Amino acid sequence: MESTRRVVAILGAGGTLGTALSQRLAAEPDTDLVLSDLSEDALRQARDGLAGSAGEVATVPADISDFAAVENVIKHAVDRFGRLDVLISNAGILSPNGRIHNLATEDWERAYRINVLGPVNGIRAAVPVMRAQRSGSIILTASVAGMTAWSHSSPYCVTKAGVIHLAKVAAVEYARDGIRVNCVCPGTFLSAMHDGLPAVAVDAIAAKHPLGLGTAGDLVGAYSYLASDASRWTTGSAIVVDGGYAAP
Ligand SMILES: NC(=O)c1ccc[n+]([C@@H]2O[C@H](COP(=O)([O-])OP(=O)(O)OC[C@H]3O[C@@H](n4cnc5c(N)ncnc54)[C@H](O)[C@@H]3O)[C@@H](O)[C@H]2O)c1
Repeated sequence: MESTRRVVAILGAGGTLGTALSQRLAAEPDTDLVLSDLSEDALRQARDGLAGSAGEVATVPADISDFAAVENVIKHAVDRFGRLDVLISNAGILSPNGRIHNLATEDWERAYRINVLGPVNGIRAAVPVMRAQRSGSIILTASVAGMTAWSHSSPYCVTKAGVIHLAKVAAVEYARDGIRVNCVCPGTFLSAMHDGLPAVAVDAIAAKHPLGLGTAGDLVGAYSYLASDASRWTTGSAIVVDGGYAAP
């Protein structure tokens, strides 16, 4: 008899949003999780936060920019749980602060490898499993930075714009295989990404969000929707959850 349980893998499951996503999805019925992150410490913390959750939780460290490592995460999901229903590609990094002429090739390459090649690796690894099942939902974390121009952040803006378009192209390529691909574009919620930012800068960012700064908890509902059958006719979309940041 086919399992009625849902298997969700999260790449970049540590950190502020990854932890909130893990907690939300672990609290949903009949769900088993495979959590992955570059940081074994962050992964341990995310897992410790799930003590007592009803479903099973597996952890597999991986660098999202390394295809073989990501493939190993998906293999772990299939070996342990027999399927993969949802993949969330959430790992991402900010680029150094600087105008284009002051940024180095390495700044672009690092942003590209983690923010673009990372989700590409997730899609490449998940698609063979989901095609065989003829079902699956892939959710990429983009950003409002991929829709609006931020001065001094070109690699971050350009790579997040790439994530939005990657979701659209993948949606078109895999719809006939029963696989949906969408992304979420968060506005700003405070996380390790903002460590060291002066209070005046945080206030300036907050002032650009009509509803004020968000929290990771404000974002998890969008992922929960995209991970569920309620979104069965939604693919190729960029769901903006940003306190009104991108509205003007
Ligand atoms: N914080 C915000 O305001 C904001 C806004 C829009 C989008 N985002 C996006 O949300 C996602 C999560 O960000 P966050 O704010 O929770 O940041 P965070 O720094 O708290 O978490 C990022 C996680 O990604 C992991 N990671 C980094 N490089 C990795 C790699 N090479 N392989 C695997 N894992 C790696 C880190 O270890 C960390 O656990 C990112 O994609 C980010 O771009 C954040």
